[in-house]
Amino acid sequence: MKLFIDTANVAEIRRAADMGVICGVTTNPSLIAKEGRDFVEVVKEIASIVDGPISAEVISLEADKMVKEAQEFIAKMPEFEDNIVVKLPFCEEGLKACKMLTDLGIDTNVTLIFSAAQAILAANAGATFVSPFLGRLDDIGTDGIALIEEIVEIFNEQLIDTEVIAASIRNPIHVTTCARIGCDIATVPYGVIMQMLNHPLTTSGIEKFLKDWDGFEKK
Ligand code: G3P
Repeated sequence: MKLFIDTANVAEIRRAADMGVICGVTTNPSLIAKEGRDFVEVVKEIASIVDGPISAEVISLEADKMVKEAQEFIAKMPEFEDNIVVKLPFCEEGLKACKMLTDLGIDTNVTLIFSAAQAILAANAGATFVSPFLGRLDDIGTDGIALIEEIVEIFNEQLIDTEVIAASIRNPIHVTTCARIGCDIATVPYGVIMQMLNHPLTTSGIEKFLKDWDGFEKK
């Protein structure tokens, strides 16, 4: 399973990219706003760090405006036009924009997916990626993993090319479970990547190796 990082913080993206563990980035308006920086400037900097799909979300609510907004921001970073994926909110206008952008050869990520039926609609509109939000379903007492499993099963059964990005990841168990059930991609916050990295037995194991080697060298 491929890993993307779910953040607009370039320091976090750089650290994850330097470890070689991510091959794409997802952002959303909340994550961009948190950085307090110009949208195009941040997306450009992210694309200069990671040579993979970078999801940048539109904030317009009508299809024509979504397409115009996407074309305008892509035009401001022509050197990264092959990396930019236009993230669209799941809704009727978002689906219309998805079809229009697909016809223009522009990649899309339809986000805020909370049911398999929505994922089927997005795939039929030509979405390159769909982003079901598993953590937000868990938050309201619904089984988020069951949704990922259902979409993965349907897409496999129907030979649908649209890739499934498990989003709204809260912990390493979400990541490993998504991998076990055959999800294409998990987009993971930096904090969860660090949780995946750390294990107390690894830390104490390194300390013991160094301590034993230190004692041996002094003999
Ligand atoms: O980027 C979309 C998604 O991953 C948001 O996650 O934590 O706000 O539910 P969260």
